[in-house]
Amino acid sequence: MQDTKIQILIIDSGSQYTQIIRRSLRYLGFKSIILSPEKSLEWLKNNQAKGIIISGGSASVYEADAPKIPKEILDFSIPILGICFGMQWMAYNEDNNSVQHVLEGKSYGPVEINFEKNKKSILFEGLKESINAWSSHGDSVASVPLGFEITATSKGGTVIEAMESTTKKLWAVQFHPEVEQTEDENIILNNFIEKICGCVKDYSRVDLVTEIQENTKKILGGGVAIIGVSGGVDSTTLAAILAPKLKEQLKAFFIDTGGMRKREVKKVKEIAVRAGIDLKIIDNYKEKFIQEVGTTIDAEEKRARFRAVYGEVFCEVAKSFNATHMIQGTLATDLIESGSVGGSALIKTHHNVDLDLGLIEISPLDDLFKFEVRELAHEFGLDELVSKRQPFPGPGLYLRILGIPVTEELLEIVREADFLVAEILKKHEIYEKISQTIVALLGVKTVGVKGDGRVYGYTLVVRTVHTVDFMTVTGFYLSSEICEEISSALVKHPKIVRVMFDWTTKPPATTEFE
Ligand code: XMP
Repeated sequence: MQDTKIQILIIDSGSQYTQIIRRSLRYLGFKSIILSPEKSLEWLKNNQAKGIIISGGSASVYEADAPKIPKEILDFSIPILGICFGMQWMAYNEDNNSVQHVLEGKSYGPVEINFEKNKKSILFEGLKESINAWSSHGDSVASVPLGFEITATSKGGTVIEAMESTTKKLWAVQFHPEVEQTEDENIILNNFIEKICGCVKDYSRVDLVTEIQENTKKILGGGVAIIGVSGGVDSTTLAAILAPKLKEQLKAFFIDTGGMRKREVKKVKEIAVRAGIDLKIIDNYKEKFIQEVGTTIDAEEKRARFRAVYGEVFCEVAKSFNATHMIQGTLATDLIESGSVGGSALIKTHHNVDLDLGLIEISPLDDLFKFEVRELAHEFGLDELVSKRQPFPGPGLYLRILGIPVTEELLEIVREADFLVAEILKKHEIYEKISQTIVALLGVKTVGVKGDGRVYGYTLVVRTVHTVDFMTVTGFYLSSEICEEISSALVKHPKIVRVMFDWTTKPPATTEFE
């Protein structure tokens, strides 16, 4: 495997955030490659890497099946940055008594990082004396190995958050500089890449559209490709990018699953026209979706059943077009959370990842994150209709009816509530500031009183979040005035007695409830 253009190797230790490291480097203007520990050595031998980053991961260095980072990577005398597990591996490798196993569970959440005042590491140049950072780990380094210096700590100096040995060309941080919750504006990764590794910028987004068009055309050859367009940012932008290049070879369709938002189908049709996509609407499977998904309340089973019907419809469509290929708007985030990338754990089965339909799959966006696709949409003039719309998951409102079988009636309640909430947020001019708004129905009944009578009804939960890439999210807090307006609008429905608001961060929660 020879790729002399790539200067940075990211060794994937199984973290949810590995792809974010790559994304951040791209944002800073650098290409990189992510490889498993097993493949990394061979690649290093055949390429001229200038830096190595060892990602985090959920394993403990004490576990027998922990990622086996080859020790020989140290022999190349290339600067290495260890993140979280990467730092623990570095410490353990030097001194197998240096890592402390946290037995009572993992630590995750924000931490205040204080940098050493007397000797500030080159890694932290340009940062204040302390920053808030995101940490998510089980083990930690209890004492630094010989030859290393502590360069940052937290909790009044008791937890070692960063260490380095400049002579050995090793740098390490316990927290995650790659995620947006770490308030370093990517300075840490940039310092490592530019100041320590001496890399020169080699990535520009200008050619991305042409690259996507040409690569797809190359794989497709003389075949026919189908693309499911949902009206969301990813699939719509992708179809708009490919339509002018693939012309008659591209068949775009929209499946109305019955779990769509109010007026969604009409909106999707409008978007397609403006984006120059010739879209076929398939709406004769709604009942089948409701029947199949409505037989379970288990989140993963629901997703699996939705996916099965979705796959069936996809197959029918493919047959009707004599398709040879299917084009997917799958993003890096979807692959990470479906456990399809490296060693990351399955969080949720996505409806359109790894569908085995006997067609050749092309996923031209699987390297990109949401905000990057939004930028592409902007460049493609799809701003008004696409990039300002909040994301909506493929299984749609089916994921927003919790603990009770999905029925047409419940779908209608959530659909109307979702519409009302969006209208209120738009009226207050905050809808566009929120990354995603979720209105879900809790199937547990509680007692309420309406007029003079007892009502035994459902609860609606309104979740508003802010994020850049959906790998981590924080709550988007609403004012009490808006909360009041929302709850009084929603409880007008005879079967709704309560409204709750959920601003839990991800992790530990996910954006959607299921
Ligand atoms: P989570 O809940 O995993 O969601 O934090 C991250 C983002 O992905 C969306 N999402 C999906 N999108 N198919 C999709 O197309 C799915 O199965 C799916 N599940 C979650 C979610 O709405 C959020 O924007």
